[in-house]
Amino acid sequence: MNLPVKSTLSGGMQHQMGIYLQGAQNIKPRLPVSFKELEKKASEIMKPEAFAYIAGGAGAEATMYNNLKAFGKWQIVPRMMGDVSQRDISVELFGKKLPSPILLAPVGVLSIAHPDAEIAVANAAKKLAVPITVSTVSSKTLEEVADASEGNTRWFQLYWGRNNHFTRSVLLRAQNAGYSAIVVTLDTRLFAWRERDIQNAYLPFLYNEGMANYFSDPAFLKAIGDPAKDPMKTLMHFAECFSNPSLNWSDLSFIKECTNLPVIVKGIQHPDDAKKAIDNGADGIIVSNHGGRQLDGAVAALDMLPVINDAVGEKTTILFDSGIRSAADVFKAMALGAKAVLVGRPYAFALALGGEEGVTDVIQNLLADVDLTLGLAGCTSWKEVTKERLRYL
Ligand code: GLV
Repeated sequence: MNLPVKSTLSGGMQHQMGIYLQGAQNIKPRLPVSFKELEKKASEIMKPEAFAYIAGGAGAEATMYNNLKAFGKWQIVPRMMGDVSQRDISVELFGKKLPSPILLAPVGVLSIAHPDAEIAVANAAKKLAVPITVSTVSSKTLEEVADASEGNTRWFQLYWGRNNHFTRSVLLRAQNAGYSAIVVTLDTRLFAWRERDIQNAYLPFLYNEGMANYFSDPAFLKAIGDPAKDPMKTLMHFAECFSNPSLNWSDLSFIKECTNLPVIVKGIQHPDDAKKAIDNGADGIIVSNHGGRQLDGAVAALDMLPVINDAVGEKTTILFDSGIRSAADVFKAMALGAKAVLVGRPYAFALALGGEEGVTDVIQNLLADVDLTLGLAGCTSWKEVTKERLRYL
């Protein structure tokens, strides 16, 4: 909402006042504002197995729990009486200025949340100039999402399988469709034991959800012909294209050969892996444990961020995901070395509840809160947001 008082209110204050003024006309926010309520509401309206797939994690979900708990251990120590009237939440990533450090994380099979899936997300993200990362297992083709994202920054996430023809083909398609970076997920060489999904005996790919990039790919189609003809053959070929447990660091050169785009590796949780990634040509890393969806009982991604930052922060661009739910979480990750963060489940639940408008609301709220949090902590830009701003309990 644009306010007549725009000239005196900046950033988050303007968005916040817009909400309060609408409240005075009895118009309440469409979606729950807190993540907890958003998730609860999504659980009430989504198909149980679809909700479980998005909300759940590996095993008994200890890693998911550790991720969230870690944010509670790091606490912001605000400073007073510095001028915070002008705040700048923009960042520069891979030579490009972005309005905020928020990116949308790759979340696959979004058609199980809403029929408009990644198109709704792309439209919302474009309105707010927030970059998106499109999953290999997206429900709309990467070209369809690119069309909806025209003019907005888009990255493509690769699930790196055993079939080099498919990998080469999909990376070429991403480059041709105007994606500006490739995010290679390293933590999904095997598909995790996910208790909720096992209990529901539910895997979306078996229902052709999340197959758009495969069923539109010339290399995939050349290998199997019509995907509907022999579903078992199609599934087996998908599995071959999706993951590869025998990968090692030197294989990263293959990805570098397939694309001219920056290659960012996702799933790094150990400083030595961060070093190996850089030595083998990665242009950036994402410290992440896949939102707790892969290895159960694992360390919180946030707790490894400062360790990895100490090891390679001077040499590469570090991004972070796994557990970001609020602006305070964004601040903490930025203070611990991230140059930007990726947000996943919040926008997936918003999509389920409100389609494009829902995603817009949730991201816009987060952006407003990030601006306010920066100022309330006593900072005016990310340069000032360092580990010294936090206390570890
Ligand atoms: C990947 O598709 C995931 O479910 O994490």
